[in-house]
Amino acid sequence: MKTTAPIGIFDSGVGGTSIWKEIHKLLPYEHTIYLADSANAPYGNRTESEIVALSRKNTEVLLAMGCKIIVVACNTATTNAIDTLRASYDVPIIGIEPAIKPAALQTTTKSIGILATRGTLSSSLFHKTSETFTKDISVVEIIGEGLVPLIEEGALNSLEMRQLLKKYTAPMLAANIDYLVLGCSHYPYIIPLLQELLPASVTIIDSGEAVARHTKKMLETTKALSEVRKTPALQFYTNADTQTLKSLLNKYSHKISIEKLKF
Ligand code: SIN
Repeated sequence: MKTTAPIGIFDSGVGGTSIWKEIHKLLPYEHTIYLADSANAPYGNRTESEIVALSRKNTEVLLAMGCKIIVVACNTATTNAIDTLRASYDVPIIGIEPAIKPAALQTTTKSIGILATRGTLSSSLFHKTSETFTKDISVVEIIGEGLVPLIEEGALNSLEMRQLLKKYTAPMLAANIDYLVLGCSHYPYIIPLLQELLPASVTIIDSGEAVARHTKKMLETTKALSEVRKTPALQFYTNADTQTLKSLLNKYSHKISIEKLKF
């Protein structure tokens, strides 16, 4: 595979752009192609076999575009489909898992919260990770029902979003958590609202930086890092409306392309 080949990134929708931002920050010369499968979002309430089929479809689109590595920028797709993807395709596949380990190691109240989709919280990969790291602490797991559709609509600051987050953070506050783990790549976009609703003593952590570091390391190990030092192509494709993608990526509008594509 050529070192100038693109990094392929996919998500159930616009949320994985939170991961793309970290990847682009760490690897500014890498050509990236991002697929937002918004027409099929959310993945969180789908069956495992549906999630696997959608993840395969996205991976195959990216491979047909010549990608040298695939980043699954979606927790639900990672926890349900990553083993199948790794077994099926001959390129490195990077996944995204909730940052349970750092939260469990650093909590002083011995109580942490995890906000994720039903599909992530019910997966066996999530259970395995959680059991390994949270033996001596209490964990408040909350399904963020309804959050992804609102983020897909761009309703980050809506009354409905505020009401849902109030409901979801209440049991965490009652349990005196000091770490909140975001287990969905869409959720970094609601950190400002979560910070308003939670005391400053609660640290919110997501997995974006860790995924970017992991991607860089994998490219180094496989000798696939780009050696070209010029502005790369940064392509975004969605199979739904481009509006939310455009607004979330507004800061980058001078250097990216966003197009609608049937996939
Ligand atoms: C979803 O599509 O329901 C959320 C995606 C994720 O888990 O990151």
